[in-house]
Amino acid sequence: MKYNMQLTPEQADILNGKKGETMAKVMETLVMFGDIFGAKRMVEVTHKEGHLVTSFGIGLLKPLYKTMDRLIADGIKTQGTFTVDPRPLDRENVKYSLLDRLVNEKVMYSQQKHYEEQLQKVGLLSEDSFTCTSYLDEVGNIPQKGDVLSWAESSAVNYANSVLGARCNRNSGIIEMFGSIAGYVPYFGLLTDEGRKADWIVEVKTSSLPLPQLLGSAVGMKVLEDVPYVKGLDKWLSPLDNCDTIAYLKNFGAASASNGSVGLYHVEGITPEAKESGEELIKDNAKHYVIDDEEINRIKNSYPIMWKDKNAKPKLCFIGCPHLSYSEAINWARAIQEGLKESGNKKVVIPTVFTLSPQVKNKLKGTEEEKILQSSGVILSSICPLMYMNNPLCAKKAVITNSNKLRTYTSSRYYTDEEIRDIITGRK
Ligand code: F3S
Repeated sequence: MKYNMQLTPEQADILNGKKGETMAKVMETLVMFGDIFGAKRMVEVTHKEGHLVTSFGIGLLKPLYKTMDRLIADGIKTQGTFTVDPRPLDRENVKYSLLDRLVNEKVMYSQQKHYEEQLQKVGLLSEDSFTCTSYLDEVGNIPQKGDVLSWAESSAVNYANSVLGARCNRNSGIIEMFGSIAGYVPYFGLLTDEGRKADWIVEVKTSSLPLPQLLGSAVGMKVLEDVPYVKGLDKWLSPLDNCDTIAYLKNFGAASASNGSVGLYHVEGITPEAKESGEELIKDNAKHYVIDDEEINRIKNSYPIMWKDKNAKPKLCFIGCPHLSYSEAINWARAIQEGLKESGNKKVVIPTVFTLSPQVKNKLKGTEEEKILQSSGVILSSICPLMYMNNPLCAKKAVITNSNKLRTYTSSRYYTDEEIRDIITGRK
């Protein structure tokens, strides 16, 4: 094949088939991907633990299953183990009507079992490795500052780049798996020093700490795929060893990655590269965006209501997209307890599902907060709510959420944390 990138002798050997035809195809795909983005060379993936975005066995993805079969037949695995995004279904914990089950299991995700067997053969860490927050302590797939990764999940790439200071492009599914197999990725974009410089200065001039979901949404819609340098948050946020800061940045980043396609942001005084280099990270010609209370309100009021009946009573509530951290789950349990006390209800009045990693769910076991959640009727599940809603039956349901990412990709309706607490506990 013709290519523009400069390959090392080892990389060229793989491309020329020294490690077999399938590995040559893997390398060819990576080289073509790099050429499209003008990469000059390939670099080593230094954080060997991969994370795959494709977690769902959708019946139509036949080429994927064929590719997996070929890798398996040739005994090819990822160099390290990998975690993967959440499963689309959880029959044990989440209720499905007969029709829901029929659509989900027989039509939408008919290949789930088969695909999970394939994932295991190619390097899946464990049966419990299905979560989008693999980078949290409880799960432990944590890259170090400066590590080069081959991931694709937009919220995880955004977090790893921004909060951990690792280096990863917003790859697509399969490309990220091929990078984890070959151990190389094309060097361009967010892997380079220049690509990590800020195109925007975002000045937060609100009267209090804005909700991360709304701030992330505002930033994403304005800067699109650019890199923002956010000023003004450090007067409210604690350093990065604080679990509330971690949760804030996780939710801010996911909203910016889904309402725009932000793969990296810097927060003055907080995120590692901003702490190290400060304003040197800002490009000379950077644009300005000021966010005040009015702008936050404008963003919130701009969200369309996608329900058929705009005044419908909510039928289901999802909290945890991206998956909840342990501290978020604890705080939510307490908020629900408080809300129920004030409303006089014993249980939540809207079926409510917390989505969180299997590891955070395990950590909650036996805690006071788990008992609160159980007695108030909240379901704990490790599914992806977006995948759950990704069928024509759900499009009609009045689902509410505090997640901007879920709102963006589904017909669910966004409410702030406080509003959600009041609705689900019947306080208002
Ligand atoms: Fe995670 Fe699914 Fe939301 S992968 S970020 S829970 S859309």
